[in-house]
Amino acid sequence: EETHRIRKSLLEWYGLYRRELPWREVEDGEDLEIRAYRVWVSEVMLQQTRVQTVIQYYHRWLLKWPTIHHLARASLEEVNEMWAGLGYYRRARFLLEGARMIVAEGVQFPKTVSQLRKVPGIGDYTAGAIASIAFKEVVPVVDGNVIRVIARLRAISANPKDSLTVKKFWKLAAQLVDPFQPGDFNQALMELGATVCTPLSPSCSSCPASGQCRALSISRHDSSVLVTDY
Ligand code: ADE
Repeated sequence: EETHRIRKSLLEWYGLYRRELPWREVEDGEDLEIRAYRVWVSEVMLQQTRVQTVIQYYHRWLLKWPTIHHLARASLEEVNEMWAGLGYYRRARFLLEGARMIVAEGVQFPKTVSQLRKVPGIGDYTAGAIASIAFKEVVPVVDGNVIRVIARLRAISANPKDSLTVKKFWKLAAQLVDPFQPGDFNQALMELGATVCTPLSPSCSSCPASGQCRALSISRHDSSVLVTDY
Protein backbone atom coordinates (compact mmCIF):
# COMPACT_ATOMS: atom_id res chain seq x y z
CA GLU A 1 0.00 0.00 0.00
CA GLU A 2 2.74 2.40 0.95
CA THR A 3 4.53 1.37 -2.23
CA HIS A 4 1.43 2.24 -4.26
CA ARG A 5 1.18 5.63 -2.62
CA ILE A 6 4.83 6.38 -3.27
CA ARG A 7 4.45 5.45 -6.95
CA LYS A 8 1.36 7.60 -7.30
CA SER A 9 2.85 10.65 -5.56
CA LEU A 10 6.10 10.53 -7.50
CA LEU A 11 4.48 9.99 -10.90
CA GLU A 12 2.00 12.78 -10.32
CA TRP A 13 4.76 15.14 -9.21
CA TYR A 14 6.95 14.18 -12.16
CA GLY A 15 4.11 14.78 -14.59
CA LEU A 16 3.59 18.27 -13.22
CA TYR A 17 7.07 19.47 -12.39
CA ARG A 18 9.62 17.57 -14.38
CA ARG A 19 12.31 19.65 -15.99
CA GLU A 20 12.15 20.01 -19.74
CA LEU A 21 15.37 18.44 -20.87
CA PRO A 22 16.28 17.84 -24.51
CA TRP A 23 16.57 14.06 -24.14
CA ARG A 24 13.10 13.90 -22.60
CA GLU A 25 11.45 15.30 -25.70
CA VAL A 26 9.80 12.55 -27.64
CA GLU A 27 8.87 13.37 -31.19
CA ASP A 28 5.65 11.98 -32.62
CA GLY A 29 6.29 8.54 -34.03
CA GLU A 30 9.93 8.74 -33.10
CA ASP A 31 11.82 5.58 -33.88
CA LEU A 32 12.43 3.60 -30.68
CA GLU A 33 16.04 2.97 -31.57
CA ILE A 34 16.70 6.68 -31.95
CA ARG A 35 14.97 7.26 -28.66
CA ALA A 36 17.17 4.59 -27.04
CA TYR A 37 20.30 6.10 -28.59
CA ARG A 38 19.39 9.56 -27.25
CA VAL A 39 18.74 8.19 -23.76
CA TRP A 40 22.05 6.32 -23.91
CA VAL A 41 24.06 9.41 -24.89
CA SER A 42 22.37 11.57 -22.25
CA GLU A 43 22.73 9.05 -19.43
CA VAL A 44 26.42 8.48 -20.15
CA MET A 45 27.02 12.23 -20.21
CA LEU A 46 25.06 12.66 -16.96
CA GLN A 47 27.34 10.28 -15.08
CA GLN A 48 29.58 12.66 -13.12
CA THR A 49 28.50 15.79 -15.02
CA ARG A 50 25.83 18.30 -14.06
CA VAL A 51 22.63 18.63 -16.09
CA GLN A 52 23.30 22.25 -17.06
CA THR A 53 26.68 21.34 -18.54
CA VAL A 54 25.38 18.24 -20.28
CA ILE A 55 22.66 20.09 -22.21
CA GLN A 56 25.08 21.88 -24.57
CA TYR A 57 27.21 18.81 -25.13
CA TYR A 58 24.15 16.72 -25.80
CA HIS A 59 22.88 19.15 -28.48
CA ARG A 60 26.22 19.29 -30.25
CA TRP A 61 26.62 15.52 -30.13
CA LEU A 62 23.16 14.86 -31.60
CA LEU A 63 23.71 17.42 -34.36
CA LYS A 64 26.91 15.69 -35.39
CA TRP A 65 25.77 12.08 -34.87
CA PRO A 66 21.95 11.98 -34.98
CA THR A 67 21.79 8.17 -34.99
CA ILE A 68 23.87 5.27 -33.78
CA HIS A 69 24.84 4.63 -37.41
CA HIS A 70 26.39 8.07 -37.71
CA LEU A 71 28.25 7.57 -34.44
CA ALA A 72 29.56 4.15 -35.48
CA ARG A 73 31.37 5.80 -38.43
CA ALA A 74 33.08 8.45 -36.27
CA SER A 75 36.75 8.24 -35.29
CA LEU A 76 37.98 8.12 -31.72
CA GLU A 77 39.67 11.49 -32.28
CA GLU A 78 36.39 13.11 -33.31
CA VAL A 79 34.59 11.62 -30.35
CA ASN A 80 37.26 12.74 -27.90
CA GLU A 81 37.22 16.21 -29.38
CA MET A 82 33.46 16.43 -28.93
CA TRP A 83 33.84 15.18 -25.36
CA ALA A 84 36.52 17.75 -24.44
CA GLY A 85 35.59 19.34 -21.12
CA LEU A 86 33.28 16.55 -19.95
CA GLY A 87 36.11 14.48 -18.45
CA TYR A 88 36.40 10.73 -18.05
CA TYR A 89 37.16 10.16 -21.73
CA ARG A 90 36.68 6.45 -21.23
CA ARG A 91 32.95 7.12 -21.33
CA ALA A 92 33.21 8.58 -24.83
CA ARG A 93 35.31 5.68 -26.07
CA PHE A 94 32.78 3.20 -24.67
CA LEU A 95 29.93 5.00 -26.44
CA LEU A 96 31.83 4.72 -29.72
CA GLU A 97 32.79 1.08 -29.17
CA GLY A 98 29.27 0.20 -28.12
CA ALA A 99 27.78 1.90 -31.18
CA ARG A 100 30.22 0.10 -33.48
CA MET A 101 29.44 -3.25 -31.89
CA ILE A 102 25.68 -2.83 -32.19
CA VAL A 103 25.91 -1.64 -35.80
CA ALA A 104 28.46 -4.29 -36.79
CA GLU A 105 26.30 -7.11 -35.51
CA GLY A 106 23.57 -5.78 -37.76
CA VAL A 107 20.97 -6.76 -35.24
CA GLN A 108 18.27 -4.76 -33.56
CA PHE A 109 19.22 -2.29 -30.89
CA PRO A 110 19.43 -4.26 -27.61
CA LYS A 111 16.19 -3.72 -25.73
CA THR A 112 16.45 -5.49 -22.39
CA VAL A 113 18.83 -5.11 -19.48
CA SER A 114 20.38 -8.50 -20.17
CA GLN A 115 21.00 -7.67 -23.86
CA LEU A 116 22.23 -4.17 -23.05
CA ARG A 117 24.70 -5.41 -20.42
CA LYS A 118 26.62 -7.20 -23.20
CA VAL A 119 27.53 -3.92 -24.85
CA PRO A 120 30.96 -2.58 -23.82
CA GLY A 121 30.64 0.27 -21.34
CA ILE A 122 26.96 -0.32 -20.56
CA GLY A 123 26.70 -1.21 -16.88
CA ASP A 124 23.71 -1.79 -14.64
CA TYR A 125 22.86 1.90 -14.40
CA THR A 126 22.92 2.68 -18.12
CA ALA A 127 21.22 -0.60 -19.02
CA GLY A 128 18.42 0.09 -16.54
CA ALA A 129 17.97 3.63 -17.78
CA ILE A 130 17.80 2.71 -21.48
CA ALA A 131 15.60 -0.36 -20.94
CA SER A 132 13.11 1.42 -18.69
CA ILE A 133 13.00 4.85 -20.35
CA ALA A 134 13.14 3.85 -24.01
CA PHE A 135 11.68 0.33 -23.98
CA LYS A 136 9.45 0.37 -20.86
CA GLU A 137 11.07 -2.70 -19.36
CA VAL A 138 10.06 -2.85 -15.68
CA VAL A 139 13.54 -2.56 -14.18
CA PRO A 140 15.04 -0.19 -11.62
CA VAL A 141 17.78 2.39 -11.99
CA VAL A 142 19.98 3.13 -9.00
CA ASP A 143 22.41 6.00 -8.61
CA GLY A 144 23.48 8.00 -5.56
CA ASN A 145 20.32 10.11 -5.66
CA VAL A 146 18.07 7.07 -5.78
CA ILE A 147 19.87 5.45 -2.85
CA ARG A 148 19.38 8.57 -0.76
CA VAL A 149 15.68 8.95 -1.62
CA ILE A 150 14.86 5.31 -0.91
CA ALA A 151 16.95 5.31 2.27
CA ARG A 152 14.90 8.22 3.55
CA LEU A 153 11.52 6.93 2.40
CA ARG A 154 12.20 3.62 4.15
CA ALA A 155 14.36 5.06 7.00
CA ILE A 156 17.33 2.84 6.30
CA SER A 157 20.75 3.81 7.59
CA ALA A 158 23.62 2.29 5.68
CA ASN A 159 26.89 3.27 4.13
CA PRO A 160 26.10 4.08 0.48
CA LYS A 161 29.71 3.39 -0.56
CA ASP A 162 29.46 -0.24 0.56
CA SER A 163 28.80 -2.61 -2.35
CA LEU A 164 26.40 -4.70 -0.24
CA THR A 165 24.38 -1.57 0.43
CA VAL A 166 24.22 -0.80 -3.25
CA LYS A 167 23.02 -4.33 -3.96
CA LYS A 168 20.34 -3.99 -1.32
CA PHE A 169 19.07 -0.76 -2.86
CA TRP A 170 18.85 -2.34 -6.31
CA LYS A 171 16.51 -4.89 -4.71
CA LEU A 172 14.49 -2.21 -2.94
CA ALA A 173 14.29 -0.14 -6.12
CA ALA A 174 13.13 -3.20 -8.08
CA GLN A 175 10.25 -3.63 -5.64
CA LEU A 176 9.35 0.04 -5.86
CA VAL A 177 9.48 0.68 -9.62
CA ASP A 178 6.09 1.39 -11.18
CA PRO A 179 5.07 -1.52 -13.43
CA PHE A 180 3.21 0.70 -15.89
CA GLN A 181 5.52 3.72 -16.19
CA PRO A 182 8.96 2.43 -15.22
CA GLY A 183 10.88 5.07 -17.17
CA ASP A 184 8.94 8.00 -15.73
CA PHE A 185 9.12 6.52 -12.26
CA ASN A 186 12.89 6.00 -12.39
CA GLN A 187 13.40 9.51 -13.66
CA ALA A 188 11.09 10.86 -10.96
CA LEU A 189 13.23 9.22 -8.27
CA MET A 190 16.44 10.63 -9.75
CA GLU A 191 14.86 14.04 -10.25
CA LEU A 192 13.48 14.12 -6.70
CA GLY A 193 16.93 13.33 -5.34
CA ALA A 194 18.54 16.01 -7.49
CA THR A 195 16.08 18.80 -6.76
CA VAL A 196 14.09 18.16 -3.54
CA CYS A 197 15.51 15.29 -1.51
CA THR A 198 18.99 16.80 -1.55
CA PRO A 199 21.82 15.59 0.69
CA LEU A 200 22.14 18.36 3.27
CA SER A 201 18.92 20.31 3.51
CA PRO A 202 16.11 18.50 1.77
CA SER A 203 12.98 20.53 0.97
CA CYS A 204 10.62 18.18 2.75
CA SER A 205 7.83 20.77 2.71
CA SER A 206 7.72 20.62 -1.09
CA CYS A 207 8.21 16.86 -1.37
CA PRO A 208 5.39 14.89 -3.00
CA ALA A 209 6.28 11.83 -0.92
CA SER A 210 6.53 13.55 2.46
CA GLY A 211 3.41 11.68 3.57
CA GLN A 212 5.13 8.35 2.89
CA CYS A 213 8.59 9.26 4.20
CA ARG A 214 9.56 7.27 7.29
CA ALA A 215 12.68 9.33 7.91
CA LEU A 216 10.57 12.46 7.99
CA SER A 217 7.98 10.94 10.31
CA ILE A 218 10.70 9.87 12.74
CA SER A 219 12.46 13.21 12.81
CA ARG A 220 9.17 15.15 12.63
CA HIS A 221 10.35 18.01 10.46
CA ASP A 222 13.55 17.25 8.59
CA SER A 223 14.50 13.92 7.09
CA SER A 224 18.19 14.88 6.98
CA VAL A 225 18.29 14.57 10.76
CA LEU A 226 18.02 10.83 10.45
CA VAL A 227 19.85 10.03 7.25
CA THR A 228 22.97 12.13 7.17
CA ASP A 229 25.19 9.59 5.45
CA TYR A 230 23.78 10.15 2.02
N1 ADE B 1 20.18 12.02 -13.63
C1 ADE B 1 20.71 11.17 -14.51
N2 ADE B 1 19.80 10.76 -15.39
C2 ADE B 1 18.65 11.40 -15.07
C3 ADE B 1 17.35 11.39 -15.60
N3 ADE B 1 17.03 10.66 -16.67
N4 ADE B 1 16.42 12.14 -15.00
C4 ADE B 1 16.74 12.86 -13.91
N5 ADE B 1 17.94 12.93 -13.38
C5 ADE B 1 18.90 12.20 -13.94
